[in-house]
Amino acid sequence: MNGRTAISTPSVAPRTGARHIPPGTATRIAAALGDDLRIADLYDDLGGPVYHLVTSHDRSEITEVLTALRGTGGPVLELACGSGRLTLPLLLAGHQVTGVDTSDSLLGELTAQVGRLPAHRAADRLTVLREDMTALDLDTRFAAALLGITTIGLVPPGERPGFLRNVHRHLLPGGRFLVTVETPRVRPGEEEIHTFVADDAVITLISYVEPGLAARHVAALSVARGAGPLLLTSFVHLVTPDRLSAELVAAGFEIESVSPVRDPLAGTADGNTLVIARRPS
Ligand SMILES: C[S@@+](CC[C@H](N)C(=O)[O-])C[C@H]1O[C@@H](n2cnc3c(N)ncnc32)[C@H](O)[C@@H]1O
Repeated sequence: MNGRTAISTPSVAPRTGARHIPPGTATRIAAALGDDLRIADLYDDLGGPVYHLVTSHDRSEITEVLTALRGTGGPVLELACGSGRLTLPLLLAGHQVTGVDTSDSLLGELTAQVGRLPAHRAADRLTVLREDMTALDLDTRFAAALLGITTIGLVPPGERPGFLRNVHRHLLPGGRFLVTVETPRVRPGEEEIHTFVADDAVITLISYVEPGLAARHVAALSVARGAGPLLLTSFVHLVTPDRLSAELVAAGFEIESVSPVRDPLAGTADGNTLVIARRPS
């Protein structure tokens, strides 16, 4: 059974050793479990399998992305593709995709899944690069670039202008950049806790939004059969669609559309926004 709750929490984010621990419940978990708790990044070798487990059935933004990219006559650059939540639908829709990510664990999962696909020749249409998307320097120019939900938030605000200019540089004239911007469902200064029960593990996702709405702290406590507790963390800088649109224009893009993303189950707007920008021809 899964459950959700929202709890007020202190705004000061303490740090334990080199790794940032989100304030509130995650900090209390770390204090309670002490040395029994392993702490890692949500996307590294320990965190990647947990991230994949909790997101692999998430169908959000897939319809919007496939609709927007229908008829795109050239290769698609998927930034921060992870384990392929968006990459696989793109491949199955016939796109030529270059997927970039820094996580060996998630790219390994993506490659394994593509290998298991039936004969769609999908594997022939996928190039996987283990690279930092903020320092990308490829020879190929793409008809479209894609950055899925949450991930623009992994780029620090001060680095965003340079990152957007670099994406622009990797597009063909007329090429489009699709970015999903999240609007946190948690109220500022509060946290949301959601428990996910899998076959052999219990994962508790904790999301805390800073009072000033500058950032969202993410923690996932994973307790798996035969393994000790593991706390996985990530930190997301929040940006509004308006602010991002202005930054895209400053980087040389024209804004093509700003539209709501729909919850695939409920069919209603899920609060997130798909911004589509175009490199002028
Ligand atoms: C929120 S996940 C999104 C993954 C995938 N797009 C999805 O929808 O499930 C963020 C991804 O960004 C990757 N990532 C984080 N920093 C990165 C960077 N500087 N360059 C490339 N990938 C990065 C992580 O490894 C992770 O796969």
